[in-house]
Amino acid sequence: MKRSVIDTVDLTVEELDGIIQTACDISENPQKYADRCKGKKLATLFFEPSTRTRLSFEAAMLELGGSVIGFSEASSSSAAKGESVADTAKVISCYADIIAMRHPKEGAAYVAAKNATIPLINAGDGSHCHPTQTLADLLTIYREKGRLNNLSVGFCGDLKYGRTVHSLINALSRYEGIKIVLISPEELKLPKYIKEDVLEKNKMPYVETADLEGSLKDLDILYMTRIQRERFFDAEEYERLKDSYVLTAEKMQFAKDDTCVLHPLPRVNEISVKVDDDKRACYFKQVLNGKYMRMALILKLLEDEKNGVLPTHTEDGVVVNKIKCKNPRCITSVEQELDHKFIPTEKDGVYKCIYCESEEKL
Ligand code: NCD
Repeated sequence: MKRSVIDTVDLTVEELDGIIQTACDISENPQKYADRCKGKKLATLFFEPSTRTRLSFEAAMLELGGSVIGFSEASSSSAAKGESVADTAKVISCYADIIAMRHPKEGAAYVAAKNATIPLINAGDGSHCHPTQTLADLLTIYREKGRLNNLSVGFCGDLKYGRTVHSLINALSRYEGIKIVLISPEELKLPKYIKEDVLEKNKMPYVETADLEGSLKDLDILYMTRIQRERFFDAEEYERLKDSYVLTAEKMQFAKDDTCVLHPLPRVNEISVKVDDDKRACYFKQVLNGKYMRMALILKLLEDEKNGVLPTHTEDGVVVNKIKCKNPRCITSVEQELDHKFIPTEKDGVYKCIYCESEEKL
């Protein structure tokens, strides 16, 4: 396995700081970087819809002087003929220098990274992780607030299926003085494994509430999210929950003067367009920051590859007698050839799937 990024924790805090500094330099001196990836190819493998992530990866590589190949839907790839993620990764490794991959199943990026012979960046795997959105979020917070520590951060909406929320919480757990406010309907609360393994393990103070208005006055950052329709197996439940939270200009009166409003986009109905004119609305700046951070990340991974830097994600897990991952969104639910592998947790007889991180009991 090559040096790949499945989630932001695959990068150290020092590396993240370095990527942020490079991204700031790219935004100020784009010409300096215009030929840095000359002769290099990025493959964008998108098995799931995307506007921002795919196009910003492509724009990032083009602005570095490299070129791009790829597909934007599973139906136009050999996945439609039944090719496995592992085989696709091996094949694309013969054509490109680096891969950005999005897939609807959790853990798909890890399977691909294990089989690719070039670096791979996870561009979103089901409800699991979305590290390059987190890079966009971190740069935006850094530029707006001048720091990544001592912040009160509210996440609002679909905290259960929102992979951008999961990755950003994971990344923030490594900075000091972060307080988290989790605002969601009961049905869409943050998964237990993130509460236990990230928030509680790192002693990060957090509260769970359903009240957006009442939470606004304390927040430095408000991270709004879309209810993830494509992750629901029950269409009626989606209809009932879809308009749970709408941030309006009236509600913004309860927020601080310098609260920074983020959203990974696309928005459906969660932020009224009237909020766009508010100086605290930072979600379109976030889009541009995402391109700079993807440029900086591509540069770093290609540089690491040249210097033979080893992968950080090395834990391979074990096959545990009789346990299968039962998460219907895990890559093991559709790829029968994969071994169900697990890592033991601190809880007796409880194991964590190496692909999707959900827990199973012996
Ligand atoms: C997010 C995603 O794909 O998870 N979009 C993005 O990449 N900016 C958020 C979403 O789809 O709601």
